[in-house]
Amino acid sequence: MFNESIIETFRQIRTPFYYYDMDLLRRTLAELKALTDGYGYTVHYALKANAEERVLREISSMGFGADCVSGNEVKRALASGFSAEEIVFAGVGKTDEEIDFALDAGIFCFNCESEQEVAVINELARAKGRVASIALRVNPDIEANTHRHISTGKADHKFGMSESEVDSVIDRLGELEAVHLSGIHFHIGSQILELDNYRDLARSANRIQAKFRAKGVEVAHINLGGGLGVDYFNPDKHPIADFAGFFAAIHEALDVLPGQKVHFELGRSIVCQMGSLISRVLYTKSGAKKRFAIVDAGMTELLRPALYQSFHRIQNLSNQTGVGMYDVVGPICESSDTFGTEVMLPETNRGDLLAIRSAGAYGQMMASKYNLRDEAKAYYSDDLAVENRGRGVAVCC
Ligand code: LLP
Repeated sequence: MFNESIIETFRQIRTPFYYYDMDLLRRTLAELKALTDGYGYTVHYALKANAEERVLREISSMGFGADCVSGNEVKRALASGFSAEEIVFAGVGKTDEEIDFALDAGIFCFNCESEQEVAVINELARAKGRVASIALRVNPDIEANTHRHISTGKADHKFGMSESEVDSVIDRLGELEAVHLSGIHFHIGSQILELDNYRDLARSANRIQAKFRAKGVEVAHINLGGGLGVDYFNPDKHPIADFAGFFAAIHEALDVLPGQKVHFELGRSIVCQMGSLISRVLYTKSGAKKRFAIVDAGMTELLRPALYQSFHRIQNLSNQTGVGMYDVVGPICESSDTFGTEVMLPETNRGDLLAIRSAGAYGQMMASKYNLRDEAKAYYSDDLAVENRGRGVAVCC
């Protein structure tokens, strides 16, 4: 992903910063588009993964919709080229203010997570003389093979409604005049690589849809959420997620009624591999038991390793010779501020640039100000390539 000229450009930029490979994003979107067009599927991109305006513009320009979980995300989506009819608004705790805003904007659908929320949306829409389109998020009580913090579809998770709560909403639909039930929504977790988990989800969706139909309710769309994982271990070998396998698994197992639409809310699988966090080694030191490379990025820029003990490949961009084992740690006053333990790297020294890979999703978005840190900036391959061309250096990254 990095050639000499881009690394030379990196040397001149204040670290830490995010670097986004826009060509990879475009290739990812092209592959996704070809598949979704083939199946007739609709994708709403989950802004929570990365809501940089330049990234959103690329995604909206390909005709994908947006999946938002806050009023501010709805605003950002609208400002970045997504039209209101392509926006879904999800989340367990939408405020009245956010619902009002989304109603006024005329979004496509509210994914509702409780009976009370449906009643509130009904009231707020009625007050405006509108009818809100809603989908009911069903908690299918399915185990997903992923980290427990990013699994969302078990009965003891806060997400979605139990089947009995869903039944109760359906029974009340007649009195809820300001909502129109247009979909069923599911989401079982994130970073799921086991395609069997999706086959299980599709089978659950079939069962729940059959229950809806037995009550005389047919919905226009089924939304299976996001969750498709990426290869954090080999980002160069697998720069694009296995969209083909994912859609094939769903296609094979999901019962779709004539005219019914199938929707997805993909986040990570679209933006993860295009992003790297670029950091400089400040110091190296040998502790009693370990050798540390202390870098100028921390958990404030990329929280995932501290929060989920997640693996990110770390690459020394300055030196390829020699070898050593390092704990790569940040400057934050927390022991969990560690990007990797016992990482084999080339001989690593003060001033070396390190790339922490697969950081395009849930990286910049989850940054914090802890320790009063400055916000890391984002740089885009398109611009850096132009800068390099200006100096007569060819860049292909
Ligand atoms: N739809 C819903 C309802 C969701 O809850 C999520 C993610 C998505 C779509 C997008 O899922 P994706 O395609 O990105 O897997 N911060 C964590 C991930 C949290 C995901 C929460 N929900 C991480 O860094 O791994």
